Amino acid sequence: MTATSALAANHSKDPAAVRAAARRLLTELPGPRSRELEAERRQHVTDAFGVTLPVFIDHAHDALLVDVDGNHLIDFASGIAVTSVGAANPKVAKRAAAQLERFTHTCFMVTEYESFVEVCRWLNEHTPGDFEKRTALFTTGAEAVENAIKVARAATRRANILVFDEAYHGRTQLTMAMTAKENPYRLNFGPLPGSVFRAPTAPAHTSPDGPAKALEKIEAILAEHGAETFAAMVIEPIQGEGGFIVQAPGFLKGIREIATRHGIVLVIDEIQAGMGRTGTLFASEHEGIAGDITLSAKALGGGLPLSAATGRAELMNAVHTGGLGGTYAGNPVACEAALAVFELLEDGKLLKNATFVENAVRRRLEPLVELDGVADVRGRGAMMAIEFRDASGPRGDLAVTAAKAANAHGVLTLTCGTNGNIIRLLPPLGIEADVLDEGLAVLEASIRSVLS
Ligand SMILES: Cc1ncc(COP(=O)(O)O)c(C=O)c1O
Repeated sequence: MTATSALAANHSKDPAAVRAAARRLLTELPGPRSRELEAERRQHVTDAFGVTLPVFIDHAHDALLVDVDGNHLIDFASGIAVTSVGAANPKVAKRAAAQLERFTHTCFMVTEYESFVEVCRWLNEHTPGDFEKRTALFTTGAEAVENAIKVARAATRRANILVFDEAYHGRTQLTMAMTAKENPYRLNFGPLPGSVFRAPTAPAHTSPDGPAKALEKIEAILAEHGAETFAAMVIEPIQGEGGFIVQAPGFLKGIREIATRHGIVLVIDEIQAGMGRTGTLFASEHEGIAGDITLSAKALGGGLPLSAATGRAELMNAVHTGGLGGTYAGNPVACEAALAVFELLEDGKLLKNATFVENAVRRRLEPLVELDGVADVRGRGAMMAIEFRDASGPRGDLAVTAAKAANAHGVLTLTCGTNGNIIRLLPPLGIEADVLDEGLAVLEASIRSVLS
């Protein structure tokens, strides 16, 4: 291939041309055009938005992002667990484009459209829980969390909410109070709404004796404040921003039992872990539990903003008519995209591939746990993480340096955790084996380079 045709292939939006090239760096990252755009960004966009890698994307195909300089990046971020079916899935694009031509918006509270009902029907049929359900659609994850609390409070006529260590539920006023980490999520934004209490969890990797102690502590917190004052307990089945924390066996079942015993609404926040990410449609399926309300967002809309609260019919209908809604709630273009996502998930291949991702990540990264500075590889399906810690404690510096090295070599990774000492991997579920392997090889080399 001549230099000119190689460049043409790299700038081609033809998926075949993009795929054939896989990871390819034509410039250092960020490249010259990204640098120009970044300078513009600094002139016009608030600095309050952070950025993992200041590279501007031109187009995408499956697990590859192509930037404005023609560099091909392997995507281990999926826009934070959103583009699980790929960032340019043709089925999503086709349904969304057809809807764009028909109409963009009516507001479901003004006049209705079928796709909204179809999304609710699918979620009612597929979220865990063998009971009659109703669904409400919204736009963002935080909005789904906020509305679940409204429902729980209206249904129970109680005020208090129990959340957990390491929790992340969003950036709005209430969800910020529910989120555990101070900086950057809560810092300087107080006073925060009250009635939010925090309880410990039983992470599998730090709780060799199981969940009993944490469950006892939860009971003690409820007793202290009056279990009968709690409307909701809200938990992520695998904690995301907090560090990809899988709970010790029996912990989530224990929470389910406590909620039922005290008449507290159990809200399972599947916003990051749901929609096939862990190899099952919902992560709570691994634990054999069902929330009274289950929350979906992120991957639900295939990249378009859509979120949902799906719960017991008697709870979801306990709110007065007009009490829930939103101008953009369940936007018709996003609903069509979600219907495409459902078809893709029902096919089963993506769920299987999530398990393939887990095995490949474990094969590649688990041997690193022997190295000083690497403490743990954990997660489920295509939601995997590697934790950096040594005798001195959490090593956020190692995680950040290794992640930056991988990013600079064209493998987009994110960090997470209260101490920022975890690299998390969230590739699109359908990532091809060779692209995954190439990305993992780069990540492994990046980690080894910072540990040597
Ligand atoms: C578990 C969980 N809940 C809620 C949210 C908030 O979603 P959004 O950013 O769409 O408001 C997130 C986002 O990362 C999340 O991971």
